[in-house]
Amino acid sequence: MDQPALAKSQSSILEIWGGTPLEGKVKISGAKNSALVLMAGALLCSEPCRLQNVPSLADIQGMTRILESLGVKIKQSIDTLELDPTNLTSTDAPYELVSKLRASFFAIGPLLARMGVAKVPLPGGCAIGARPVEIHVRGLKQLGAQVYIEHGVVHAYASQLKGAKIYLDYPSVGATETLMMAATLAEGETILDNAAQEPEVIDLANFCRSMGAKISGAGTKTITISGVPNLHATDYDIVPDRIEAGTFLMAGAITHSDILLESVVPEHLSAVTAKLKEVGFQLTPDANRGLRIQSKGVHTGTEIETLPYPGFPTDLQSLFMALLTLSQGSSVVTETVFENRLGHVPELVRMGADIKVKGNVAVIQGVPFLSGAPVTGTDLRATAALAVAALAANGKTSISGLQHLDRGYANFEQKLRDLGARIERVPTVEA
Ligand code: EPZ
Repeated sequence: MDQPALAKSQSSILEIWGGTPLEGKVKISGAKNSALVLMAGALLCSEPCRLQNVPSLADIQGMTRILESLGVKIKQSIDTLELDPTNLTSTDAPYELVSKLRASFFAIGPLLARMGVAKVPLPGGCAIGARPVEIHVRGLKQLGAQVYIEHGVVHAYASQLKGAKIYLDYPSVGATETLMMAATLAEGETILDNAAQEPEVIDLANFCRSMGAKISGAGTKTITISGVPNLHATDYDIVPDRIEAGTFLMAGAITHSDILLESVVPEHLSAVTAKLKEVGFQLTPDANRGLRIQSKGVHTGTEIETLPYPGFPTDLQSLFMALLTLSQGSSVVTETVFENRLGHVPELVRMGADIKVKGNVAVIQGVPFLSGAPVTGTDLRATAALAVAALAANGKTSISGLQHLDRGYANFEQKLRDLGARIERVPTVEA
């Protein structure tokens, strides 16, 4: 996020008056976690490519700056990006940009595969965890690269990557994507075993295949890539954002509303919709990529354990917890993917929730109501969870930490206002 945008986000807060049911429909944007990696994937190609359904987000601006620093020419018009990576001028991703956007580490695989060299600063940790990249690094070495870390920068060299059979210790989304991209231009066949199965991995594979890559098995635990000498131009439509869709499902659920989400792939949300049905909501997919949620009165508690896809997504753990604070009965939420992703709990408790945390397990006793309060978001999905809770709370909630929210949700408050929510973004007093 550039300084002006960061300053703007940090100098404003969201004010939400709870208690208003939502109604109508909301169009879900393209997936942030697909757009970011596809932008990096464009580095693999020596011809221009177009990405459509790109969400308008601070993180997309950040990735644009990083690619431009490498020599990629980028034109953005509304939700379309034209990227021209024909003449790369650098293979060093600048620290001051990488430190602001972890996803910039995605540049290492494509730069190494196409240019034979890449220098990318370690992405470092964030509020939800240490976020190491050893699975990425080990896999690149197995593809024949020389890789070492010096002064916080990952240096990687390979005149020609060679296909290999790689077992991922953990089905890391990022590592699967890094290694899949690197392998598209390697000599011979690469097999990724214990690979991540997220829809964004499938979207990346489809994007690379549209450029001529030979990839099979994306979406399963075993992905096979047969290297090709080079890739060609493409025009690609990014998959809808399942996490934004889940966020709006929770907004509809917690306010006991009847709303329709448009531009959704319901099967990408199977774990989430199953849990929403289990606790008492009605979910109805429709023919043209729509998904309707209706409340049937009170909702009960349940148990949630976050897991790699197709398990319950860690990115919706905080959102579902917000909903469970108002359920009838108790619930248990276990976060198994990240080591520090319960930062939203103390803030929900400030709003009157009854949540006890022990390690990575939260036990929630449903309460009859939440009360609006001044709260602070600690990371992207925690801030979204506070906004969802505020929609159902009595009175006004003031939410700071919008620099997190603006990274991952396009036109968040406008979409909620269009559904009837009482929500305003206001400058803070000191601003
Ligand atoms: C991607 O992060 C997403 N980000 C995250 O979304 C998402 O939460 C995560 O996948 C899990 O679904 C993007 O796609 C840009 P991982 P990533 O590698 O790739 C450990 C959001 O809110 N690990 O699957 O970083 C890691 O520490 C963001 O939109 C290693 O130990 O996730 C974590 O505990 C947050 N070594 C676990 O694996 C490694 O080399 C899952 O990480 C790599 C990962």
